[in-house]
Amino acid sequence: MRICEFEAVGARPPETDPDSGPAPEREPQPEPGLVLDDDLLILGDNLPALAALPRGAFDLVYLDPPFNTGRAQTRATLAVARDEAADGARSGLRTGFGGRRYRSTLLQRLSYEDAFGDYLEFLEPRLRAARGLLADHGTLYFHIDYREAHYCKLLLDEVFGREAFLNELIWAYDYGAKPRRRWPAKHDTILVYARVPGRHHFDADAVEREPYMAPGLVGPDKAARGKRPTDVWFHTIVPTNGREKTGYPTQKPEGVLRRIVSASSRPGGWCLDPFAGSGTLGAVCRQLGRRFVLVDSSPVAHAVMRERLAAARPRAERT
Ligand SMILES: C[S@@+](CC[C@H](N)C(=O)[O-])C[C@H]1O[C@@H](n2cnc3c(N)ncnc32)[C@H](O)[C@@H]1O
Repeated sequence: MRICEFEAVGARPPETDPDSGPAPEREPQPEPGLVLDDDLLILGDNLPALAALPRGAFDLVYLDPPFNTGRAQTRATLAVARDEAADGARSGLRTGFGGRRYRSTLLQRLSYEDAFGDYLEFLEPRLRAARGLLADHGTLYFHIDYREAHYCKLLLDEVFGREAFLNELIWAYDYGAKPRRRWPAKHDTILVYARVPGRHHFDADAVEREPYMAPGLVGPDKAARGKRPTDVWFHTIVPTNGREKTGYPTQKPEGVLRRIVSASSRPGGWCLDPFAGSGTLGAVCRQLGRRFVLVDSSPVAHAVMRERLAAARPRAERT
């Protein structure tokens, strides 16, 4: 695995040729420099990083940008221990089941900014660059929530063409606060586009099957085999105490990424995540025998993904 510090954070406008009038597609021009000879972690703004990657090299691009919630995304990791002698008036103390006293200690606080003046203006050059990196059989997955999904769909239609739109995936989960004045929002949207309509790689049989909702309605053989997932995915968030939890805010579950990578990339193919966070795409690529490039502008995200991927390396490879 190669680690590369690319360029200071700060978006650079896409380059255009002044003599050719307005370009139909404002994709950043490729820069020499980044060669795909090993899995790659890039620390820096993804716009210049994408411009330096080889065009047409990727089976799959997965983007999970900040959702423009208007506030910093922060996750505090606490260690909780029994403390009978503790004085309840002091901070960090809770009373649990059976009146037992617990003390919580802050282990770490991980955070990234999530407020954009013009969100679509931020996204557009990155989507155009990402499209240019896809092979003709390549597919782009764009992960977003209900606040921006509809605006992003219109932007993606513009960048890819409406005919390239493949799916709107709904990832439904059930966790966290439930307001009482409206339906609790418990899903994310993943918009899927082909680089070239009709030429995209999609291996339906490589995806793990899931149980039928009403197994009694199909024969016992079919019920035992399970069904291929549809465009609505019921999947838990990253389990609080699970193996894959890194503590990075808005970390996505490996199970969701496993479906995407299995279906839309070939064994040994290259996958790219320009907003990589804790490195979930890389962890899944390792499991499934794909190559990967992960980009994130946050040094904290980098520390998290490096630790995660070092732990995920086969024993013989670890140094
Ligand atoms: C929603 S999180 C990604 C979470 C990730 N999918 C995971 O499973 O951990 C979005 C990430 O985008 C990063 N980011 C925001 N703007 C960026 C930019 N211009 N270039 C590169 N990374 C950026 C943030 O640092 C953050 O880690």
